Amino acid sequence: MSIHLEAKKGDIAETVLLPGDPMRAKWIAETFLKDYVCYNEIRGMLGYTGLYNGKQVSVQGTGMGIPSTLIYCHELINEYGVKNLIRVGSAGSYQKQIKIRDIIIAMAASSTSGINNSRFINADYSPTANFELFMKAALYAKKNNIPIKAGNVLSADEFYEDDFESYKKWAKFGVLCVEMETAGLYTIAAKFNVNALSILTISDSLVSKKSMTAKDRESSFNPMIKIALSTL
Ligand code: ADE
Repeated sequence: MSIHLEAKKGDIAETVLLPGDPMRAKWIAETFLKDYVCYNEIRGMLGYTGLYNGKQVSVQGTGMGIPSTLIYCHELINEYGVKNLIRVGSAGSYQKQIKIRDIIIAMAASSTSGINNSRFINADYSPTANFELFMKAALYAKKNNIPIKAGNVLSADEFYEDDFESYKKWAKFGVLCVEMETAGLYTIAAKFNVNALSILTISDSLVSKKSMTAKDRESSFNPMIKIALSTL
């Protein structure tokens, strides 16, 4: 047991899918896994371990934002020996050509978060995806005709920015979309020498101002989960 997870050693697989929403962790276990068991209910941050195509995998909710995500990643890596951390989340589009339901694989994550500013004072650190996980995910998507886009994403600390037009600066420099976790995930994975990948489905657009309905979200997340599970 760790501070925020009540699993016993050995209850959590080497590869863990990380949705922000704990109810999405439950949905992933129910929809994709066989013989799954729930190993965590502390704070309602549900975690499950089960089998996908005979291989053991876990799914753990992280909550929203880098601070919450880092708590779970730290304990998964250091208390439970997790080696592959794969975020499966949602994001807001920053580009006209990136539409609702599109899938983005984050090659790198820019950030407005303070975590790396205080760590690398007066210098920039570039949090990046693990190459092997990235290649496996991209090849699976290609083989199965699932369109993906890959590039730089922004991990923001605020969902509701003071200035909603501020996204245009990031868009101009090629950032594809905004979410709130990937820069933290890629940094902690590098710190502890484990592998991380972030796969995102576009749920809203700052350009078109459109967004998915809550019902839309479930079905449209299917291909993203299959891509994540293909890395096992
Ligand atoms: N996750 C999904 N949409 C988002 C947005 N517009 N901003 C930050 N995180 C998000």
